[in-house]
Amino acid sequence: MQRELVLVLDFGGQYNQLIARRVREANVYCEVLPCEVELDRIIEKKPKGIIFTGGPSVVYEENAPTVDPKIFELGIPVLGICYGAQLTAHLMGGTVEKASNREYGKKELKIVSTDHALFKQIPQETSCWMSHTYHVGNLPTGYNIIASTDTCPVAAFANDTQLIYGFQYHPEVMHTPEGTQMLKNFLYEVCKCKGDWVMRNFAEESIQQLREKIGDRKVLCALSGGVDSSVAATLIHKAVGHQLTCIFVDNGLLRKNEAEDVERVFTEQFDMNLVCVDARKDFLSQLEGISDPEAKRKNIGETFIRVFEKEAKKIGAVDLLVQGTIYPDVIESGGTHAAVIKSHHNVGGLPDHVDFDEIIEPLKDLFKDEVRQVGRELGLPEHVVERQPFPGPGLAIRVIGDITEEKLAILRDADYIYREEIKKAGLNREIWQYFAVLTGIRTVGVMGDERTYNYTLGLRGVTSTDGMTADWARIPYPVLETISTRIVNEVNGINRIVYDITSKPPATIEWE
Ligand code: XMP
Repeated sequence: MQRELVLVLDFGGQYNQLIARRVREANVYCEVLPCEVELDRIIEKKPKGIIFTGGPSVVYEENAPTVDPKIFELGIPVLGICYGAQLTAHLMGGTVEKASNREYGKKELKIVSTDHALFKQIPQETSCWMSHTYHVGNLPTGYNIIASTDTCPVAAFANDTQLIYGFQYHPEVMHTPEGTQMLKNFLYEVCKCKGDWVMRNFAEESIQQLREKIGDRKVLCALSGGVDSSVAATLIHKAVGHQLTCIFVDNGLLRKNEAEDVERVFTEQFDMNLVCVDARKDFLSQLEGISDPEAKRKNIGETFIRVFEKEAKKIGAVDLLVQGTIYPDVIESGGTHAAVIKSHHNVGGLPDHVDFDEIIEPLKDLFKDEVRQVGRELGLPEHVVERQPFPGPGLAIRVIGDITEEKLAILRDADYIYREEIKKAGLNREIWQYFAVLTGIRTVGVMGDERTYNYTLGLRGVTSTDGMTADWARIPYPVLETISTRIVNEVNGINRIVYDITSKPPATIEWE
């Protein structure tokens, strides 16, 4: 059975992936394609609906991104959002004009056509999030205004004969409280979707497909303990059991109890064929005396490959190598807004060093939150599924300067307390990433009657959606107080604690 599909055409707006995620949250599978995609490719995919995203351009600019107007003749419903709405109006013969003021922020939205399919279950007066300088002036013939704000008469428009629609506002952001319902209305009332994108089904179907695809072949996976590799490995394990071998490398740069935990979850709970390699000494000796951040990363990457290669050789040739690639890594993007693939995040060059025939990427269609849902369906524990991002080089880039076993031990204990208290305070979901940094600076302190000369610990906590930009988390003072008191009392070697209050940019999330 063919899964129903909606296409999101990317015009370079900042919320493009968010639109796609909202569609998927509404249980409809969607893919993001660059706006310049050929019409034939769209037709081939047989979408039930097409959404044009926003974007930074103005339709009258030279080289403004556009689409083949034949897209409107396919009989497939189209919903344009922001720039997408302006472009639709423009291509169909309407006008786009400069708003008297740049419209930004929350606006009262008045539904003009209260019985319109797009506004089913939506109150007549609601609010919406605007962010634009241009908006639709005159509508093309056959089009009607279906919602307005006081400064933007054409806040939403419709051509119900051709099933072409536009929202000047952003239904995908949470500041448009009824936005999710509006998108659902487009999907279910207009495109007549049924909603067959459910993570439980995904897990079941994908296990079945993996079983067929893999047959009796041997599979190898580098398990890091992170969400993606854990879920990928578990899917494949459910499909082919012991035909999968996972290699987990303990590089000595992991957080407290992490290595033991990975081993416990995957061997006790899942009976995986797991090779745990204790390479702590290897990594530490290679890192000795190195304090430059990039040199550390390079060094760790090379050691990892050497260790992994050695273990993989013991297993012998395998047929398939698992990669935990997820959808944001593979999205082809439109306009000038190219998807940024964070190459330093991926274990560099592994495929060049392992003897295998084919790569298998079971998560390549999923967004991160979907990967987590699949993990839950598969029975992975919550602490694995909800694990915050952790850099490949681990604590090595959180011990500033040169790395010693003693510094790592101090950092591990302090970081553990920090994370424990954040969880206790119930903040672990809203803070995207939180960790401690051993700054390498020693300062004078006093404990009891004695002077101390110990390390300063940095605490970092950020809110973010994808790690590309981030804001520092406003952790309540009483929580910071408990964390600070516990760490200086319980961890030897730290006598001062600072909290990092820089956003990204200009800072980065990690300190190195
Ligand atoms: P920055 O520090 O660049 O971090 O703002 C953005 C996100 O990437 C993670 N990060 C890394 N992940 N290898 C990784 O696998 C690395 O070398 C690395 N450096 C940073 C960081 O934790 C954050 O989530």
